[in-house]
Amino acid sequence: MKNIYLVGFMGSGKSTVGKLLADKTSRDFVDVDKLIEEREKMKIKDIFEKKGELYFRELEKKYLQELLNTQNLVVSTGGGLGADAENMNQMKKNGIVIWLDLNLNTILERIKNDENRPLLNQPLDKIKKLFDERKKVYGLATYRINAENKTPFQIVEEILNKIK
Ligand code: S3P
Repeated sequence: MKNIYLVGFMGSGKSTVGKLLADKTSRDFVDVDKLIEEREKMKIKDIFEKKGELYFRELEKKYLQELLNTQNLVVSTGGGLGADAENMNQMKKNGIVIWLDLNLNTILERIKNDENRPLLNQPLDKIKKLFDERKKVYGLATYRINAENKTPFQIVEEILNKIK
């Protein structure tokens, strides 16, 4: 079975939805951030602090290549992975890309106190700019799901309807 890739901004529910979707579609679930942490034996936060964001982006690309060569996966991507046009094109060629679209206010309400997301440590106007820029690339996904005011179960049902 083709891989399904979930993209979207931090805190849009990719991991929660991804696990459910993997169960429902009998695919294996992979969270790219967790994969990177396990293989690199470092927390994402520490990779950002000690090696820098660019290094982290290279790691994302490296592990994505591995996933593109594996079948039958639901892949939950980090917010930056799916915001890179090259990554997006590769995922679309390889499988189905689903964008979980949420308003920035909803997202910030969910994750405002999360210390494990280094990109949140910047002024609100910068976060807004990043959000607007990224939406242009997320918008290239195979399908967009409006995830506002929906439970993970409802979102999974919508995805199943789209891909059937
Ligand atoms: C990032 C999102 C994070 C993680 C890293 C960078 C981003 O993943 O990959 O902190 O650039 O938006 P989540 O989208 O799961 O928060």
